[in-house]
Amino acid sequence: MAHYLDDQSRTFSEFLLVPGYSSAEAETANVSLKTPLVKYKKGQKPALSLNIPLVSAVMQAVSDNHMAVALAREGGLSFIYGSQPIERQAAMVAKVKSYKAGFVSSDTNVKPGDTLADLLELQKKTGHSTTAVTEDGTASGKLLGLITSRDYQPDKTPGQTKISALMTPFTDLVCAPDGVSLQEANDLLWERKLNVLPVVDKKQRLTALVFRKDYNQYIGHPNGLLDERKRYMVGAGINTRDYAERVPALIAAGVDVLCIDSSEGHSEWQKRTLEFIRKKYGDKVKIGAGNVVDAEGFRFLVEAGADFVKVGIGGGSICITREQKGIGRGQASAVIEVAKARDEHYKKTGLYVPICSDGGIAHDYQMTIALAMGADFLMHGRYFARFDESPTSKLLINGNYVKEYWGEGSNRARNWQRYDHGDNSQLIFEEGIDSYVPYAGSLHDNVTVTLNKIKATMCNLGALSIPELQRDAKLTLVSSIGIIEGGAHDVVQKDRK
Ligand code: IMP
Repeated sequence: MAHYLDDQSRTFSEFLLVPGYSSAEAETANVSLKTPLVKYKKGQKPALSLNIPLVSAVMQAVSDNHMAVALAREGGLSFIYGSQPIERQAAMVAKVKSYKAGFVSSDTNVKPGDTLADLLELQKKTGHSTTAVTEDGTASGKLLGLITSRDYQPDKTPGQTKISALMTPFTDLVCAPDGVSLQEANDLLWERKLNVLPVVDKKQRLTALVFRKDYNQYIGHPNGLLDERKRYMVGAGINTRDYAERVPALIAAGVDVLCIDSSEGHSEWQKRTLEFIRKKYGDKVKIGAGNVVDAEGFRFLVEAGADFVKVGIGGGSICITREQKGIGRGQASAVIEVAKARDEHYKKTGLYVPICSDGGIAHDYQMTIALAMGADFLMHGRYFARFDESPTSKLLINGNYVKEYWGEGSNRARNWQRYDHGDNSQLIFEEGIDSYVPYAGSLHDNVTVTLNKIKATMCNLGALSIPELQRDAKLTLVSSIGIIEGGAHDVVQKDRK
């Protein structure tokens, strides 16, 4: 006879946190959101931690190298999507690892023989007015000059004028040598009253531009997630099929942590993938596995060697797995059970294996609830897809800006490896949809507000760290009538923007 669980399948929105005593210490400035990313032994420090408990989903519509840089700058981490050719994924990882804050690759470049009309056409595409003049018109060609909007009058200077006649020639430019630090570059910008500083190598080839206007953006991120060489940290998703080729390429590109991306991870395929990594790399390579929704799945993946375990099936905003296959579990119930298994395992073995609550979070407050229930960090797709930094198009629909967001199991992504049972190399039916999400602006602005809300709630509970929150939080179930009480009610609301 089938086995029935005693509890109902519950979601985060069915719970509320009950405030506790807050001491005078309990102010947001004193709250630390640092959290372990990979397993560690009692009394030791984890080899990798996050400065904020947020990671971005292993999805085409969410995590590319731009998202990875933006999120690592805030203290979180992206898992670059694996549903793309190995070389492309490895190149994205390499771009994050070689990214130098403040040093940008010139995206608007012309040759001296081009005309002003050519330049104006190019600027329409890139939207940038500072243009490098290089011998071959590329971002890394020999630098021959610089041209900005102060060098011509678009309505008066004839369109056929050659760039060579308008540009500031190399001999009149202030440049910095390759290898200059951001601080030195900025000192030069201020001392010489420049707006832009080209960086060139010994052969006069352009390597980067440093802009005065970017400076504030880079000094304002003390929380950035950096490796021991001060490079941004980045993760990558892998599947249980081509790991023998994909993993070495990602490691060569400098990836910090891997994650097996699968809709259901309690499987022999995950075990084999983890065994491959442990055999080839020992404990040096860090890898998470999942997704599971119960203690049994957690213990299975821990025994197979996972460094962290991802929790959640069927709760993602674009997910139709429950409708299609009838499998899954309410995200709150899953996190509660797996967190309990994690704590029991820690007590028994002295090994702490962090858990990640993946998907299904629709409001900021639910992040605090998930952490209080025992999640060490949270993976989001929809949340990050709304930002400037996500890889998808921003569109104007019915007067509102939206961004595209599609599931890995949709026909658009066709990530069959994520839904693989080992017997088929195609997606037979969809488990995700293609959608729009409201455009929300920059990652920095949104993450700042979200983290402030999490910290403020933690202060209400008197918790100054995530372990304290997990230890002390009191949660209560809310009745359906109680949920109505939680919103504005019994008033006529004025238009809310
Ligand atoms: P969200 O944050 O609620 O949008 O959920 C994101 C999570 O949904 C991802 O991290 C995946 O675990 C999961 N996911 C991604 N694509 C699909 C899909 O096509 N079907 C079901 N789940 C998906």
